[in-house]
Amino acid sequence: MFIVKKTIKEKDYYYLRQSIRENGKVKAKTICYLGKDKEEAKKKAKEFKVKEKENEMDEERIETKVEHKKLNIDELTNFCKRKGFVYPSGDLYGGLAGFWDYGHIGSELKKNIKDSWWAFHVQEREDIVGIDGSIITNPKVWEASGHVGNFIDIAVVCKKCGNKTKIDKHELGKIVCEKCKGEFTSIGEFNPMFTTQVGPIKDDSLKAYLRPETAQLIFTNFKLVQENARLKLPFGIAQIGKSFRNEIAPRNFIFRSREFEQMEIEYFIDPSKTKECPFLTKEIENLKVNIYSAKMQEKNSEQTEMSIKEALDKKIIMLPWHAYWLATELNWFFNLGANSKNFRLRQHTKEEKSHYATDTWDIEYNFPFGWKELQGIADRGTYDLSKHEKHSKKDLKIMDETTNKKILPMVVAEPSLGVERAFIVFLLDSYSINERKNIILRLHPKLSPIKVAILPLVKKESSMVNLSREIYENLKKELKITYDDSGSIGRRYARNDEIGTPFCITIDEESIKKKDVTIRNRDDGKQIRVKIEKLKEILRSLVSGKILFQNL
Ligand code: GAP
Repeated sequence: MFIVKKTIKEKDYYYLRQSIRENGKVKAKTICYLGKDKEEAKKKAKEFKVKEKENEMDEERIETKVEHKKLNIDELTNFCKRKGFVYPSGDLYGGLAGFWDYGHIGSELKKNIKDSWWAFHVQEREDIVGIDGSIITNPKVWEASGHVGNFIDIAVVCKKCGNKTKIDKHELGKIVCEKCKGEFTSIGEFNPMFTTQVGPIKDDSLKAYLRPETAQLIFTNFKLVQENARLKLPFGIAQIGKSFRNEIAPRNFIFRSREFEQMEIEYFIDPSKTKECPFLTKEIENLKVNIYSAKMQEKNSEQTEMSIKEALDKKIIMLPWHAYWLATELNWFFNLGANSKNFRLRQHTKEEKSHYATDTWDIEYNFPFGWKELQGIADRGTYDLSKHEKHSKKDLKIMDETTNKKILPMVVAEPSLGVERAFIVFLLDSYSINERKNIILRLHPKLSPIKVAILPLVKKESSMVNLSREIYENLKKELKITYDDSGSIGRRYARNDEIGTPFCITIDEESIKKKDVTIRNRDDGKQIRVKIEKLKEILRSLVSGKILFQNL
């Protein structure tokens, strides 16, 4: 909008005009007459613009119904590229299968997933500490762990459609092609570890590996960490970091990548105390879960919903420790807003289970391409520590202070989760559409890439801009926020809804007079006014989930 002056018979007349596009042509249209005095005209124009923005905001005050929308994996891939979540790595040159880059929004979501996992599993617990191991280590580690000799994928190709994939040894001859139900034929065995050379001069160099899991670094550092952190059984060691696997068939977006990140815990107990889990509370026992036991799989029957207690009583889950860890890992997802209906606990069948494990379970998720492993919760016994004792010829036993005897602890549970798979789950479960067909990404505020958007109603109104900048400066040290002043207020809300920003703060004319602002809630469009002096505290509580918007 702009002011124009018309001079008729030496007298000035002021008008407010606006550029509009009509039939592909830009035209100027008079909005209103502003009078004969220049200063008076400027004042009236300003009031008019503010009023119009306020009307726009009134229109946006409509509360809308929001519904979840199921996406297929290609739709999710496109959405992630369009909105700055994930790009194919080296996209300029056509990408590289199995490698992905995270954009300005995706890198925040990924970081928030890892931070929430770390807070829940390490920061908030007395019995778990974290480490950060290196990606390349002494290759003897991978010989001892069995990865050099036994970490083998079988590559198969479908006789009918040519689809290449990997399968487990026990699946050979038993499963058919997912795409066309054709028969598979084996094209060989491959070790998926990436190799590299340590030392630039080839003759003096050492062949080494990029780690295929973070777990072994926990075992090799086990004794040092236990002693230095003065850990007493039962205890856990956690790690988040990159892993690399030269997958035969990377596919389904970031679900199976060649470079990915794992969040892993090795939880150690005294092997004579497998039945004593001190953490099994009523709340955990009452948690209802979908169970898909080995027996149900043998009989080709459906999964069944039951409580953790029922699964333990019926001896479907054998150890209380396993029940505890399965429920704990599910609760991490559920507390962050994932939909429990899309999760199930699948027990490993006899053929899948390692010889040293009492029982092993996967958390599976109903991905757009079917039920697939989201997180493994293996029972590794004393397998890894014994192997490292044997190969390194070092004693890894620890002193049990109650009996004064040295024992080699067992890993009763190894919760191991890929960050990328959690990333897909949170996006799929939060993707929604409102009545106007706008995308609303209903992420838990803890996971939202941007927590708050600061929106001055009129970008050229200096008192509004000054107050907005002041609020922005005051909040930015504490929360990841954005300042957005371009486009209509409706467009700005929609832009933030799409990337999951839970709260928009609008600063209008009233804000200057009454020292208050509007908080708009992403999930239903509801708005409330709060005093600026209370804003930081309220946002802190909303983002941490301490209070809900509807309870304000
Ligand atoms: N330390 C145990 C271990 O690595 P795994 O079942 O091979 O066990 C654990 O991997 C988790 O790591 C999987 O449940 C999955 O979430 C993630 N993961 C494994 N391979 C992956 C890949 N190629 N791409 C993305 N995530 C992967």
